[in-house]
Amino acid sequence: MAPHGDQLMTLDELTAFGVALGAAAAGALPCVVTLSGDLGAGKTTLTRAIGQGYGVVEAVTSPTFALVHEYVARASRRFFHLDLYRITGAHELANLGWESLFAEPSLIVIEWPDRAGALVPADALAITLAHVDADETRRRVSW
Ligand SMILES: Nc1ncnc2c1ncn2[C@@H]1O[C@H](COP(=O)(O)OP(=O)(O)OP(=O)(O)O)[C@@H](O)[C@H]1O
Ligand SMILES: [Mg+2]
Repeated sequence: MAPHGDQLMTLDELTAFGVALGAAAAGALPCVVTLSGDLGAGKTTLTRAIGQGYGVVEAVTSPTFALVHEYVARASRRFFHLDLYRITGAHELANLGWESLFAEPSLIVIEWPDRAGALVPADALAITLAHVDADETRRRVSW
């Protein structure tokens, strides 16, 4: 994967992109990916694909009430899916064990990273998804 990119992707293409990204995220970790974009832009869809590529067997579902969902992947690695949509600021992450999330070999995908402010590691891979005018089948993916 190129360090930066900007592509229009169908659902299938976005899924393949996520699977490849998840598969590449092995080795000396933690690795953090942030997913920004409007409601329905495809963040949870991409999260599922990344988890699949990372080796998560259990299906990744969109958290409704939980901020953090944890999954076990190949070689006992952890996959964390954080959906911060409902929090109003970083102070709400105080009881989450935020630091411990980043202390083990894991892949961490964060929807709505803006809510966490400066708590998001500076070296995270930041991906933005956007709707495309007059084309509901494609999303603009930039990173
Ligand atoms: N090219 C595409 N890429 C991603 N999703 C697409 C694409 N085309 C259509 N879709 C559809 O758009 C929807 C995206 O929903 P998803 O829950 O992934 O968005 P989200 O960004 O997580 O939204 P929210 O902010 O509400 O959590 C899905 O129903 C998906 O099937
Ligand atoms: Mg979502």
